[in-house]
Amino acid sequence: MLFERPKTGERAVLVHMDLAHESEREDPQEFEELVRSAGGEPVAFISGQRSSPSPRLFVGTGKLEEIRSQVRHYDAELVLFNHALSPSQERNIEKELQCRVLDRTGLILDIFAQRARTHEGKLQVELAQLQHMSTRLIRGWTHLERQKGGIGLRGPGETQLESDRRLLRARIKSITKRLEKVRKQREQGRRARNRAEIPTVSLVGYTNAGKSTLFNSLTASDVYAADQLFATLDPTLRRISVPDLGPVVLADTVGFIRHLPHKLVEAFRATLEEATQADLLLHVIDCADEERAENILQVEAVLKEIGADKIPVLEVYNKIDLLSAETLSIEPRLDCDQDGLIKAVWVSASQKKGLHQLLTALAERLGRDILHASVTLSPDRGKLRAALYKQNAVVNESYTDQGASELEIRIPKQDLYRLLSAEEVDAEQFLANCRMFN
Ligand code: GTP
Repeated sequence: MLFERPKTGERAVLVHMDLAHESEREDPQEFEELVRSAGGEPVAFISGQRSSPSPRLFVGTGKLEEIRSQVRHYDAELVLFNHALSPSQERNIEKELQCRVLDRTGLILDIFAQRARTHEGKLQVELAQLQHMSTRLIRGWTHLERQKGGIGLRGPGETQLESDRRLLRARIKSITKRLEKVRKQREQGRRARNRAEIPTVSLVGYTNAGKSTLFNSLTASDVYAADQLFATLDPTLRRISVPDLGPVVLADTVGFIRHLPHKLVEAFRATLEEATQADLLLHVIDCADEERAENILQVEAVLKEIGADKIPVLEVYNKIDLLSAETLSIEPRLDCDQDGLIKAVWVSASQKKGLHQLLTALAERLGRDILHASVTLSPDRGKLRAALYKQNAVVNESYTDQGASELEIRIPKQDLYRLLSAEEVDAEQFLANCRMFN
């Protein structure tokens, strides 16, 4: 099959086999997107069926000839497999074809390498690449080819592959140590946020669902958004102010993908950790995507895998501007369950439609939490004290020697935020002075 597109990236022959085993079936269309996302130019797509992979070459000899003829015909620089290949399979195929071969894990790692933005993200990718590479060290690619760069050759590959395993191990150790340090710092940040009782909301969702766009629209900041898979690799934190609620930390996270190789989930566990610690997950869904139902299931599966499946979820159906009037309502709206709990919001992040509804939903969902804390109010805060009493929020009261009142309060957060806003008290400052019981 030929693809009509200007030839820009590396010319790549794509190989996708339907294996009898259902769970090993990868999505060919997504594969093509991944290749383009990595900057490759698919020139031919070779598919076929096998009951199981051949141990030596993954494909059979007939299929190998087909690949060889396409490589020659298009003068391809790269053969990409939509499967995980063993190091020896990769080596054997390279030897047979005299062309560089990369498997699905290598391809995804390359995309990660291009997208990583923060220090931690870059370290994570480098570590995963080094680990992937350490099993493939004996490959015969020359200095020159490595220096040219290209898919799968970016990042540490250029220099590390030529050095010996000992050096590689030392590098892996040093990165692991640096990563530990960065993680600790992040953990501290998270604890500080917890102490201040600022809720964290993590945006999760299938890649390209529009998380970064929504993040930008909500924070009016400028996080890199692109029509490419994995535009976001690192969690990006911003503080927003939600009406009737107060400050909320919004975290943008890496996009999920079907069949994300398990060891990559492991490698990016720290990135995804932000989601496991959130008070609420915003599951962003591209509602115009034909594969919408499948994508939702995939995201739910990854959430389960990283241990985030117990965290409350608010579904955000994004891109309503792409829905035609006949299929579904194209106006922003809120969906509730039978208990009146808001379960879903329909928005268009790029057209900034439905953001108001989304903020309402956030206030409602986060505000259900109860705050149990003690707070000291100086004698001049009599009005606030009275308001807390009126709201039935005071459990206990004692007085300090200076005549200040020491209040133990228990109140749904949402009511507290309303009360503070009515009393014109800064919620963040108030919370910073609270000593939490829970
Ligand atoms: P990853 O980083 O790969 O996980 O992607 P993401 O979920 O962060 O998606 P991103 O915000 O980068 O958006 C992907 C594409 O969808 C971009 O081309 C956006 O412009 C587009 N997009 C986002 N929101 C909307 C929307 O409401 N309507 C339309 N039509 N396009 C949108």
